[in-house]
Amino acid sequence: MAQIIDGKSLAKKIRENLKKEAEELKKMGIIPHLAVIMVGNNDASKVYVRNKSRACEEVGIEFKEYFLEESIKQEELIELIDKLNKDKKINGILLQSPIPKPLDIQKAFNKIDNIKDVDGFNPYNVGSLCIGQDGFIPCTPLGIMKMFEEYKIEIEGKKVAIIGRSNIVGKPMAQCMLSKNATVTICHSRTKELRKELKDADIIISAVGTRNIVKEDMVKDGVVVIDVGMNRDDKGKLCGDVDFEKVSKKASYITPVPGGVGPMTIAMLLHNVIKATKMQNMIGNN
Ligand code: GUN
Repeated sequence: MAQIIDGKSLAKKIRENLKKEAEELKKMGIIPHLAVIMVGNNDASKVYVRNKSRACEEVGIEFKEYFLEESIKQEELIELIDKLNKDKKINGILLQSPIPKPLDIQKAFNKIDNIKDVDGFNPYNVGSLCIGQDGFIPCTPLGIMKMFEEYKIEIEGKKVAIIGRSNIVGKPMAQCMLSKNATVTICHSRTKELRKELKDADIIISAVGTRNIVKEDMVKDGVVVIDVGMNRDDKGKLCGDVDFEKVSKKASYITPVPGGVGPMTIAMLLHNVIKATKMQNMIGNN
């Protein structure tokens, strides 16, 4: 039976430490500010943004929301980003994904100032991660790396299979694992034999949003399983990409959904906002 990686309590511990850091900044007259932009009416995004807002409040980060109509033009979105880039009070800018078509989200990410890009999605920060230079690392992969650190799970020399090649999770996750000397395989919708790729893996990270894509007969004994999926089962209950019930009997470590990766993503956003605030104020070795 696997040990459960408790993202909920690890995230709580991290938030408590960040709260102390925010208090120290406050003593210096600095209050970290995060600006979040949402375009259109995506119900899932609304829930994510609400959770981010609550977490910021708890830690002592000012949270400013910008809701834009679905009909907004690309130039108007860029104008808002430019305005927030110039605003000295704003330390971090997050554009909630997805945004409605035909808007181009990457073009918008590209405009976010490198030093305020707390999601780590602009090309400068993506490149920094690739070459091992300090920068902002996307929150979900960063949160997963913290879980490995906390539970002292070895990465070096391990075979890691990642399912999903998104810019938000899959690709930066691969870079993070590579930086710790793992051998990484990225699987996706055109992968011919997913089962074969997974069966060989010491670590599996699933981030596709397909319920039960990882089944018990696809994994080896002792595998470490990280589930980034956020799906609903037939009863409407939140579940991940992994058949948790059965896979947990074979795995050595596994993350639950909910209470696994999700809370860590938010904790890492707060971490990145505090880091951005310190960088902008030339504090510490950030
Ligand atoms: N949508 C889903 N996850 C994320 C994330 O980490 N950042 C942003 N900006 N949007 C998302």
